[in-house]
Amino acid sequence: MTFSTLLFDVSDDGIGLVTFNRPDKLNALNATVIVELASLIHEVAQDAKVRGLILTGAGPKAFVAGADIAELVDLDREQGIEVARRGSRVFRQIERLAKPVVAAVNGFALGGGCELAMACHVRLAATNARFGLPEVKLGLIPGFGGTVRLPRLVGRGRALELLLTGAMIDAEEAARIGLVNRVVPAASLLDDARTLLRSMLAQGPVAVRLCLQAVDGELDATVDEALELEAAHFGEACASEDKGEGTRAFLEKRAPLFRGR
Ligand code: COA
Repeated sequence: MTFSTLLFDVSDDGIGLVTFNRPDKLNALNATVIVELASLIHEVAQDAKVRGLILTGAGPKAFVAGADIAELVDLDREQGIEVARRGSRVFRQIERLAKPVVAAVNGFALGGGCELAMACHVRLAATNARFGLPEVKLGLIPGFGGTVRLPRLVGRGRALELLLTGAMIDAEEAARIGLVNRVVPAASLLDDARTLLRSMLAQGPVAVRLCLQAVDGELDATVDEALELEAAHFGEACASEDKGEGTRAFLEKRAPLFRGR
């Protein structure tokens, strides 16, 4: 797969590294990035060789500094709805991917960049990362899931403070409010993301997939519906070869050999 705005590389351990590659525009998301990202995620979903993803930005300054503002100037209502739907669709593809996705946030994650990070399953921030949803400064609101995911991650009050002021926060503050999982040195960000992803890929693959699907399906259900969904996913795990191997290996005091079945 080759793209004009994304770099994609898969290492021997099945970790795909996606790099947003418009460093002269701080990796802003233009229409081409969105189209290419959709096709990359579609391919990754079907490619068994890719077991998990890391998303990061090219250059020293930015993860992704937002939607490309040059493409927003002339949007009317109908075009705005279309642009928001297109971006949201691809971010939802990421969120619903049955393989773990880690955002390695290496600088500005603003607007669409913050929304992209929030659509990933977990987020690591380098010490120089900066987060914000500055759309109100442009007379806009987030369109790629920002008003949906931010309150779910950090709570309504904190989300509204960020949304209504458009303020930028640093990595430590983002970790404090739960917007990112933790802060790591910029120099080790990608290694730390790989280590984290490997620690997920070492677990039972069926169980990892079921955890991702369970959390995605259950977060917005009622408690009773969610518990039913969890029971169904638990049952599916019980029906897997991996569960037989994992539980037997524990009892036999040996390491499990998962086959992802
Ligand atoms: N869309 C389009 N271009 C963008 C961009 C965006 N979201 N963010 C940065 N750029 C471009 C700048 O226009 C500039 O291009 P130029 O060199 O052709 O003039 C280049 O990237 C470098 O950005 P610059 O503003 O010079 O860097 P800086 O270090 O002074 O400031 C930011 C960095 C992130 C604070 C600033 O670029 C910014 O506020 N960007 C917009 C963030 C935003 O509002 N995002 C939400 C959009 S909905």
